[in-house]
Amino acid sequence: MDDNCVLSVLLPLFIAVLSLAAAAKTVLPPVFILGDSIADIGTNNFVPDSKARANFPHNGIDFPNSLRPTGRFSNGLNSADFLAQQFGYKRSPRPFLSLNATALRKKKFRGINFASGGSGLLDSTGQSFNNQKNVVPLTEQIQQFSFVKNNLTALMGAAATKKFLLKSMIFISIGSNDLFGYYHSNSSIPKEEFLSSLVLAYKNHLKTLYTLGARKFGIISVPPIGCCPSQRIFNDTAGCLEELNNHAVAFHANLDALLCKFSTEYDGFKYSLGNSYEMILNVVQNPLPFNFTQVEAACCGAGKLNGETYCTSDANLCSNRDEYLFWDLFHPSQAASKLAAVTLYRGGSQYVSPINFAQLAEA
Ligand SMILES: *[C@@H]1O[C@H](CO)[C@@H](O)[C@H](O)[C@H]1NC(C)=O
Ligand SMILES: *[C@@H]1O[C@H](CO)[C@@H](O)[C@H](O)[C@H]1NC(C)=O
Ligand SMILES: *[C@@H]1O[C@H](CO)[C@@H](O)[C@H](O)[C@H]1NC(C)=O
Ligand SMILES: *[C@@H]1O[C@H](CO)[C@@H](O)[C@H](O)[C@H]1NC(C)=O
Ligand SMILES: *[C@@H]1O[C@H](CO)[C@@H](O)[C@H](O)[C@H]1NC(C)=O
Repeated sequence: MDDNCVLSVLLPLFIAVLSLAAAAKTVLPPVFILGDSIADIGTNNFVPDSKARANFPHNGIDFPNSLRPTGRFSNGLNSADFLAQQFGYKRSPRPFLSLNATALRKKKFRGINFASGGSGLLDSTGQSFNNQKNVVPLTEQIQQFSFVKNNLTALMGAAATKKFLLKSMIFISIGSNDLFGYYHSNSSIPKEEFLSSLVLAYKNHLKTLYTLGARKFGIISVPPIGCCPSQRIFNDTAGCLEELNNHAVAFHANLDALLCKFSTEYDGFKYSLGNSYEMILNVVQNPLPFNFTQVEAACCGAGKLNGETYCTSDANLCSNRDEYLFWDLFHPSQAASKLAAVTLYRGGSQYVSPINFAQLAEA
């Protein structure tokens, strides 16, 4: 046997050892997802009286492998899935309400999705008028997170739980439904006052999560919701509803200021704020570089711009779904959700600041 041969036996072994070391180093951060329908992957299926559901066709028509309606408001995966993918997962962790007592005991337990379609910063947002429970408000999602923390503490002890939460990524996408509710109720509350109440609510939610041990927050602001097909139909020229978009811009500015201040007051609080407004408006104004050809009408729905009804099995359905910014009257398509997640993960400071989600994981 010559030296060359020894090398050819040892080299693969050496490489194998090296890649094992690399794999051991890149342990995926645990991921907890809170918020509204942008991130809901089936929570509302478990809320018995909820009307804010998408667990029927044509939803899910492009869902990987199984083409099934899971409860995601999308033709396939949604932003929660694509965010989780950026961190090395196949898709979003499962909904809290789907978990049984064995879920947290699994060695590979790496997170939970609490997001509920229709929910908001305010407990009243998204609830139906007949006193039936329609959504899981953010307050209750955080109570569920607290419940999980207690379970983890019982399972692995306080110190290990603290460490686990320190490195966990907390993603929150919330606020759109509060603004929709404010706008369409023709509320007499002045805009500034309403926005202050939302930001105060956000602050209290963050405080609760911080007190529970969460430290790394990936926050997703409100997109240009006036440009949804469901809102364009209120504009005679089918343009975006300017006032609603202005609310979204003001909300982002207020949230930016809150987070900046919060990080100086709460030791170890780290955050990244995604500017969904800039991200999506950029695509609306300049769709072709992003491979979108339709940014006004929904792919699935009926009426003007397919924006007058939800997506159901007898609604219109487009065939070139990857070319649509909107899947239904309110929600982005799978292609748009992926673009948003990739931008949050590694985008520049015009879209995500002061650091992006990849940097947040390393922070
Ligand atoms: C808990 O959920 C897992 C995964 O869905 C399932 O395989 C298992 O049978 C469930 N266990 C109980 C006790 O229901
Ligand atoms: C958490 O603990 C409670 C009380 O012991 C138990 O009933 C519940 O099933 C646990 N939940 C999970 C998701 O492990
Ligand atoms: C708000 O005002 C608009 C325009 O005047 C009207 O069409 C709508 O019905 C009002 N909404 C509510 C909830 O009162
Ligand atoms: C409707 O859209 C046009 C064109 O984008 C815009 O100039 C106008 O302000 C919009 N109207 C409302 C009520 O938002
Ligand atoms: C657009 O599509 C082309 C051709 O399929 C592809 O090469 C390019 O990466 C796409 N651009 C974006 C922004 O996805």
